[in-house]
Amino acid sequence: MHASFDINSSTGVYRVSLGEGLVKNVVASQAHRIFIVDTNLLAQVAFVTDPIIAVDATEENKSLERIAPIIEALKGHGATRETEIVAVGGGIIQDIATFVASIYMRGLRWHYCPTTLLGMVDSCIGGKSSINVGALKNLVGNFHPPASILIDLAFVHSLSAEQQTSGLMESVKICYARGGEAFDAYLALQPTAPLKTETAFAIIEQSLTTKKWFIEIDEFDQAERLLLNFGHTFGHAVESATHFAIPHGIAVGVGILMAYRYAEVASILTPAGLERAGRLVAHVQALLQPMRHTLAPLVGIDAEVLLKHFGSDKKHSQSHYRVIVPVGDGDLQRLSVERSPLIQALIRNAFAQGADLAVNGGA
Ligand SMILES: NC(=O)c1ccc[n+]([C@@H]2O[C@H](COP(=O)([O-])OP(=O)(O)OC[C@H]3O[C@@H](n4cnc5c(N)ncnc54)[C@H](O)[C@@H]3O)[C@@H](O)[C@H]2O)c1
Repeated sequence: MHASFDINSSTGVYRVSLGEGLVKNVVASQAHRIFIVDTNLLAQVAFVTDPIIAVDATEENKSLERIAPIIEALKGHGATRETEIVAVGGGIIQDIATFVASIYMRGLRWHYCPTTLLGMVDSCIGGKSSINVGALKNLVGNFHPPASILIDLAFVHSLSAEQQTSGLMESVKICYARGGEAFDAYLALQPTAPLKTETAFAIIEQSLTTKKWFIEIDEFDQAERLLLNFGHTFGHAVESATHFAIPHGIAVGVGILMAYRYAEVASILTPAGLERAGRLVAHVQALLQPMRHTLAPLVGIDAEVLLKHFGSDKKHSQSHYRVIVPVGDGDLQRLSVERSPLIQALIRNAFAQGADLAVNGGA
């Protein structure tokens, strides 16, 4: 099992390789390399002989305040402008490595080995970093695409069903956002946790080749790529209001259900749209069904608290909310809707009904 393809970015072309045993290949390089590795994965990269900076994958460590010690550790290991960073971990390690690689001596080449399904199907391509400032999540960041991405399927199997499901939510989001054909191709792979290696391989390939279209046509998030925020504005509200007790990908799944309910109540779907969006809802519900325990913090959550977090999303303007919803025949559209009492009532309704779809199946 092996696949590879190139991504065109403003800083050049980088290659994505997908297969088994790939991290061992990167170790064989002659370049001066320093690894930044998730502490939980040190045993899985025990063969690495280059210097390793081990970092706990916590939101606290993904903060501006904690970047300086990593820069100092790089200097301590003798990093020069020729040094290459190799990051091994999920989205947290990716965000840290992207940021550090972009600013150390004004920029180093870096390679990324994503180890969570979320990282493999989605965040590994696109070149973005997002760093917290105190309690303010993802407030600062930049673009610094890696020189290569090595997706080693061995890492899929140590992920829990919850972590795999989180990744599948981003995968279905990408494929649905691209249109009916990509969505059908995704569903045909019968994605569900726990994933067999062949299924994981096919889902990762399908997601990344679909996301490639978005990031090549709109690298800097001005138009098409914004659709990949589907489920995220509602999802971020769910994450924040539950104090991050609900993991990101699972919250995105709940956010997709909320966005669907918003579209349904606002009557912006035709029967054809209801059919396609309905299949999305059924799939997301099926993925969430075994996650009842994870979803428990959703029950009884205050709509006003959700609305407050929803309203503070950086994608809105002062006067308008930005919501991404299925419209017409089911395609996604980014709507700009006034911050009026009427719209706020629709959003509160979407929170309640979307949560009900997630927790009780809408029964
Ligand atoms: N830069 C981007 O484009 C982008 C996109 C989406 C999300 N993110 C960020 O990514 C973060 C979430 O990342 P994530 O969900 O990939 O995970 P993560 O990095 O937060 O890791 C989650 C947990 O999984 C563990 N883990 C990682 N790989 C494992 C493996 N193979 N087996 C067992 N355990 C493993 C980690 O040690 C950690 O305990 C958030 O901070 C989010 O803001 C960034």
